[in-house]
Amino acid sequence: MQGQRVLLRVDFNVPLSDGKIVDDSRIRAAVPTIKALLDGGASVVIMSHLGRPDGRVVDGLRLRPAAERLTQLIRVNVPTTGDALGVGTDDAVRRLRPGELLLLENVRFHAGEERNDPAFAERLASYGDVFVNDAFGAAHRAHASTVGVAAYLPSYVGLLMEQEVEALSNLLEKPARPFAAIVGGGKVSGKVAVLEALIKKVDLLILGGGVANTFLVASGRSVGKSLYESKMVDDARRILKLAQDRGVRVLLPVDGVVAKEVTRGTEFKVVSTDKLPASWHMVDLGPASITAIREALAPIKTILWNGPLGVFEIPSFAVATRELAKVAAEKADAGATVVVGGGDSIAALRQLGIAEKMTHLSTGGGASLEFLEGRDLPGLAVVPTAGSPYETLPIVYVAPVKPGGKAAPRRAAAKPKPIIKPSALDDEDDDESDPLA
Ligand code: 3PG
Ligand code: MG
Repeated sequence: MQGQRVLLRVDFNVPLSDGKIVDDSRIRAAVPTIKALLDGGASVVIMSHLGRPDGRVVDGLRLRPAAERLTQLIRVNVPTTGDALGVGTDDAVRRLRPGELLLLENVRFHAGEERNDPAFAERLASYGDVFVNDAFGAAHRAHASTVGVAAYLPSYVGLLMEQEVEALSNLLEKPARPFAAIVGGGKVSGKVAVLEALIKKVDLLILGGGVANTFLVASGRSVGKSLYESKMVDDARRILKLAQDRGVRVLLPVDGVVAKEVTRGTEFKVVSTDKLPASWHMVDLGPASITAIREALAPIKTILWNGPLGVFEIPSFAVATRELAKVAAEKADAGATVVVGGGDSIAALRQLGIAEKMTHLSTGGGASLEFLEGRDLPGLAVVPTAGSPYETLPIVYVAPVKPGGKAAPRRAAAKPKPIIKPSALDDEDDDESDPLA
C-alpha cells in the first residue's frame, strides 16, 4: 500500500435529521479499512453517495456531516471537496501525501453516477492507482463509483465487505440449527424473493410489522385500516404454502396494538388478531405475540433479523421491536449466532445499548437482502477475490499489485464498456427499513 493512491468507495449513506447524523453505524464500519490503508502508507480518496439527489446538487445531502463524524472517529482531519470532480478536486487529490485522506463530495450530485457512465467513472478512476470497494450497503447498485471505476483500476474489496460476505455466507451455508428468520418492516414487495429463499433455509419464520399484516390477510383475517399490500396477498399465500410443504413453522402475530391514527399521542389498545377492528390501524405486536416469539426462540441457535415489528419511530409502538432486541441480546449472550440488518432494527439495539452483543450487524439493508436471496451483487462481482464465489464471474480488469512493486499501469487502451448495465439489478426497493406508516 505504501505510496499508493487508493480510491475507496464506502457507504456513508447515513440517516440524517436536521443535518445531524442519527445513526453512524456505516461510518464506524468503514473505519478499519480506512485505518489499514492510512497505516499502510497509502493516501486515500474516499467516495460515497448520500440520499437520492438524482444527479443534482442538494445542499442537505452534502457529505460534510459524515466527514466531521469520521474525523472524530479516526482523529485525522478529513477534508471534503466541494464537488466529486473539477479542478479543485484534481488539485486536492494531487496534493495528497501518504497517510492523508480526502472525501469527495456526494457522487450522486452527478447524473453519471447512477447511470454508470463510463466517462464519469473514468474521471473518478483518475483519482486512484487502485480501487477498493468497501461499500457493502451499496453493493447491489451498479453505479460508476461501485462498479464503473473497476474497469479502469486494479480492484479489491475492503475489510467490511469481507466481513459482511463472511457473516452472511455463514448464515446461508452452515447455520447452527434450529435457524430462525424474523422479518418485519413495512412492505412485502421487495421481500418476496428473500422470503422464498429463507423458507428453504430456516426452521422458523417470524413475521411482524406491515409484512405480517399482508400475511394475516393471506391467512383469512381482516386487518382493518392497517398497512398491508393487497397486491402481495397471493405471494404471501404462496410463501405460506411453501412453508407448509417444507415443514417450516411460520409465526404470525396473535395479538396487536391497534391505534386510531398512526401518530403520536393517539388512542390505542391491544386486541386479538382474530378480531382486528375495522377502523383501527395495527401499529405494533401485542404482549401475547411477544411472549410467543420469546418461547419460539428459546431453542433457536441462529437468528437473522431484518426490520422493525411495529411503527418504531413512535415510541409507544416500538415496544415489540425493543423487546425483540432484548431477546436477541439474551440469545447472543447465550451463544446463539445473531445477525441483524436494516436501519430500524439496528437503531433499536443501539438505543438499548446492546448492539455490540450481536454476532454481526449488517450495514446493508437492500444489499443484505439481495445477498441472502442468492443474487450476485454487482459491487462484489466486479472485484474478484481468489476462492470467492465471484471468481468465476465476468472480470472487468484485474492486475494485482505485486508485493513491494508498483501498481499496475492504468489501462490505456480502448474504453472498456461497463459489463453490468446500471439499473439491471437496481430495483426500487424503497427501503428495507421503511416505517409502517
Ligand atoms: C442503501 O441505503 O440502501 C444504500 O446506501 C443504497 O442506497 P439507495 O437505496 O439509495 O441506492
Ligand atoms: Mg435502499
